[in-house]
Amino acid sequence: MAWHNRLLNEFHKKVLEQNSRILTLGIVVVVSIGGLVEIAPLFYLNSTIEEVEGVRPYSPLELMGRQIYVREGCYNCHSQMIRPLRDEVERYGHYSLAAESMYDRPFQWGSKRTGPDLARVGGKYSDEWHRDHLIDPQSVVPESVMPPYAFLADAALDYRLIENHLTVNRTFGVPYSEEMIASARSDLEAQVDPFSSGYDDLLARYPGAQIRDFDGDPSRITEMDALVAYLQVLGTMVDFSTYEAEAPENQR
Ligand code: HEC
Repeated sequence: MAWHNRLLNEFHKKVLEQNSRILTLGIVVVVSIGGLVEIAPLFYLNSTIEEVEGVRPYSPLELMGRQIYVREGCYNCHSQMIRPLRDEVERYGHYSLAAESMYDRPFQWGSKRTGPDLARVGGKYSDEWHRDHLIDPQSVVPESVMPPYAFLADAALDYRLIENHLTVNRTFGVPYSEEMIASARSDLEAQVDPFSSGYDDLLARYPGAQIRDFDGDPSRITEMDALVAYLQVLGTMVDFSTYEAEAPENQR
């Protein structure tokens, strides 16, 4: 055995193994180096979240719908993350990109699928279908175990604090501008009213926003309006007919 091997052996036996504090310190040092090597690059790589064309912050109405989604705990039964596995992609569509949930605070990936994944449910059904389904799921899917949410159609949407919702999201990094916050209320009202004069401004601020009466009752704005607007935008921001995945930096 070479002399340095003997030395290392002695060091192990005498210093590390007989002295638990030094051993613990050694473990902490080694584990943190491993952690740093894995985590630190993520803060510097541009590709951690690849910017993808089309992804924009939620419009005020969609954001309120999202609050209702969270309030009602829809995430307890629904995920919003399509994994890059063949059976998932065949059933739900293109696998989810990190950028698609970059403005979700908090994200809604979920961890349980009692019902199907909803990451790309936007545009899959009509507003009427969603309405009927939320009011009485068994009326459209007889074997459904989803609970009814009929009260949403009767509950007036409380958007008195809509500016604050946008401001809080901005605090956490969602790029809502001063202008978006100032016009949050009028944008919300414009999105459920196709005859509104704010139509063009809304679209300029939130490209591709769908503008219509979502709950079938044009006389008022309900929680159903907001939730259906949110469901209908899920997965529709990125145009996958033109999207090309960027190769990871080390494979270019
Ligand atoms: C107890 C579990 C459960 C909860 C809570 C739940 N769902 Fe569901 N959901 C299901 C199941 C099961 C299905 C599949 C059968 C069906 O279509 O009704 C489903 C289906 C759906 C679908 C149709 C998806 C598709 O691709 O066909 C939508 C949309 C949906 N749920 C939205 C919601 C929303 C919004 C909420 C919250 C307000 C919610 N769900 C809460 C269990 C649940």
